[in-house]
Amino acid sequence: MITQDLPLDRAVRKFADKSAIIGIVGLGYVGQPLALRFSDVGYRVLGFDISDALVEMLNSGRSPIQHVDDARIEAARGAGFEATSDFSRISEVDGIMLCVPTPLNKYREPDLSFVINTCEQIAPYIRDGQVVALESTTYPGTTKEELVPRLERGGLKVGETIFAVFSPEREDPANPDFTTSTIPKVVGGHTPSCLKAGLALYAQAIDKLVPVSSTEAAEMTKLLENIHRAVNIGLVNEMKIVADRMGIDIFEVIDAAATKPFGFTPYYPGPGLGGHCIPIDPFYLTWKARAHGLNTRFIELAGEINRAMPEYVLGKLVDGLNKRKKAVKDAKIMVIGIAYKKNVDDMRESPSVELMERLRDQGANLSYSDPHVPIFPKMREHRFDLRSTPLTPDALRSQDAVILATDHAAFDYKMIKEHTPLIIDTRGVYREPSDNIVRA
Ligand SMILES: NC(=O)c1ccc[n+]([C@@H]2O[C@H](COP(=O)([O-])OP(=O)(O)OC[C@H]3O[C@@H](n4cnc5c(N)ncnc54)[C@H](O)[C@@H]3O)[C@@H](O)[C@H]2O)c1
Repeated sequence: MITQDLPLDRAVRKFADKSAIIGIVGLGYVGQPLALRFSDVGYRVLGFDISDALVEMLNSGRSPIQHVDDARIEAARGAGFEATSDFSRISEVDGIMLCVPTPLNKYREPDLSFVINTCEQIAPYIRDGQVVALESTTYPGTTKEELVPRLERGGLKVGETIFAVFSPEREDPANPDFTTSTIPKVVGGHTPSCLKAGLALYAQAIDKLVPVSSTEAAEMTKLLENIHRAVNIGLVNEMKIVADRMGIDIFEVIDAAATKPFGFTPYYPGPGLGGHCIPIDPFYLTWKARAHGLNTRFIELAGEINRAMPEYVLGKLVDGLNKRKKAVKDAKIMVIGIAYKKNVDDMRESPSVELMERLRDQGANLSYSDPHVPIFPKMREHRFDLRSTPLTPDALRSQDAVILATDHAAFDYKMIKEHTPLIIDTRGVYREPSDNIVRA
């Protein structure tokens, strides 16, 4: 008797025996580590990106991301990894993971144009038996409303001849404790067959998979995680302001509270939210909730508090300069650490940029120092003709003030303290009070 080889069985078998070819669309901070992981476990990987420069760089074995070594790209190249901007090659792959940006537009509404463009780009080349996973953070309903209809346009049926899942990326760049494989991965299918195919796609590359009942549940899981962070950071930023006014050290309080072995998770205040996720993703839910007649008040409030933090830091700078009979105008101010978080080179949504713009507007004589960002990069909405100033005792002594905005491990904090006339410390680096240190 001849048994029928169904597309689902075929897909599951190919992922299990690693004869499947993996396609990653969008080779940025998320797509690259994912491509490397699938290559490491023995799949042939084809990467797709619209940036020719990025494709060329990867194909020549060079890593565009600072915390990913060239050697890893070279090893993947040796194992058959290839990057391309030719989307007709989508027909070659069996599993497709979409890792393209999901920013906000200037009205703080979801900008799904990258996801939609990607779906349009791949739609003509998809074929039966493929598994398509959307990984970009987005509002509940995106997979069903935007991806599925485009996959079905050519006559394929999702759940029968092609499979669609949502599986949110949980990459935490430069975190030494977790890698792509050890971070559990949530997967939601458009149908039960889609879920089965999606689990098969990820099973060999990720240690622990967490199936959920729908693509919407998977989409909302990612938003809950990021909203949880945004709200708690908003709370601790508000607590910082209250503690400061009462003369209490917020970092001492957080450290003490964190000794509670249950029911408390420490979050740390800072100069504002940064990165591609936490300042942005919560508003994807706000937008969608509005369509259901609901307001997301926690999200809005946390956003309001977090967005006001650069203003608070500048207020502290003005007070510090004022005590020294100085104005911001013409003062020499250096911002230390301009990437959005410790030990990374990522500048997206960095609060340091807002601080720098406000200082420039007020006539400060501005410089910055960040070993991870040697030249101020081209950004869509921000422009500075600046390059990183090396931190030397002379460079620090010549400043009227420095704002310590991101606490990279590479900085020599003892030297900074010894030679800087005024430090505005937004990260709680300096725990001992000192005449030249202002907490902000
Ligand atoms: N960076 C993180 O730490 C992180 C963590 C979790 C989730 N995410 C989510 O993952 C998604 C991707 O984020 P990222 O940080 O990797 O972004 P990124 O900007 O680093 O990379 C996106 C890549 O997609 C490419 N691209 C854009 N449009 C394309 C198209 N139509 N076809 C093919 N390639 C295209 C860009 O050229 C770029 O190389 C976002 O939704 C983000 O919210 C990011």
